[in-house]
Amino acid sequence: MTILAPALDEPVRLSVALGDRAYPILIGSGLLERAGTWIAPLLKGRTRVVAITDSNVGPLHLPRLVAGLSAAGITVESVTVPAGEGSKSWDGIATLVDRLLELRVDRGTLLLALGGGVIGDLVGFAASITMRGVDFVQIPTTLLAQVDSSVGGKTGINTKAGKNLVGTFYQPRLVLADLDCLATLPVRERRSGYAEIVKHCVISDADMFAWARRRGRAGGDCGR
Ligand SMILES: NC(=O)c1ccc[n+]([C@@H]2O[C@H](COP(=O)([O-])OP(=O)(O)OC[C@H]3O[C@@H](n4cnc5c(N)ncnc54)[C@H](O)[C@@H]3O)[C@@H](O)[C@H]2O)c1
Repeated sequence: MTILAPALDEPVRLSVALGDRAYPILIGSGLLERAGTWIAPLLKGRTRVVAITDSNVGPLHLPRLVAGLSAAGITVESVTVPAGEGSKSWDGIATLVDRLLELRVDRGTLLLALGGGVIGDLVGFAASITMRGVDFVQIPTTLLAQVDSSVGGKTGINTKAGKNLVGTFYQPRLVLADLDCLATLPVRERRSGYAEIVKHCVISDADMFAWARRRGRAGGDCGR
């Protein structure tokens, strides 16, 4: 299966300049296996993190993340929520926050959001309200989450009145976008992310639109 970019030994590093809430975005291959390199410095001497993922992503990618953190002496406790938009709900956030409190998170605990936009939005919201705010890292595993939802600090859940109507603006400390995660992404989800890229290109980047058109026609990225 074609990956959207060539393998990168060293990640590309972008920076979101937001004063004291500024954070880096690392994009590349094999980042989960090396996650401890970038996460350990955020732990201020602590050795435990809590990783939250969904029932599809966990079996596929959590073991690589756990291995990458263990190699740096970091212990991982994990919480798995049902895959899908249903977890981004009042029930979903209550269940997650209760579980985090059972795990005795405190103000110094770092949360890791391993999954697509649903996990990013849900965990970001949980991070912003648990203990009045704990740090979190976005580890986006869908193309949509890598190019859009993991960046910008919008968190939240859906309610009866509509999607994303309750939430917070809360920035992650770091975004780790591991391109290897995209290898397991269903074609439909790949297309969904590609559509977001094309939308961005149409609005503001003619050269990139031409690139996306060429790649789409070539077929690899969208499974045609
Ligand atoms: N916060 C923001 O700025 C922002 C922006 C855009 C969208 N969103 C939100 O993002 C959500 C949509 O995100 P999404 O499209 O990533 O959906 P998603 O998180 O539901 O993921 C889509 C499906 O792909 C599965 N999956 C994820 N990664 C996988 C992988 N690597 N391999 C195999 N399966 C994988 C998931 O389990 C799920 O079944 C919506 O709730 C939307 O409101 C937020």
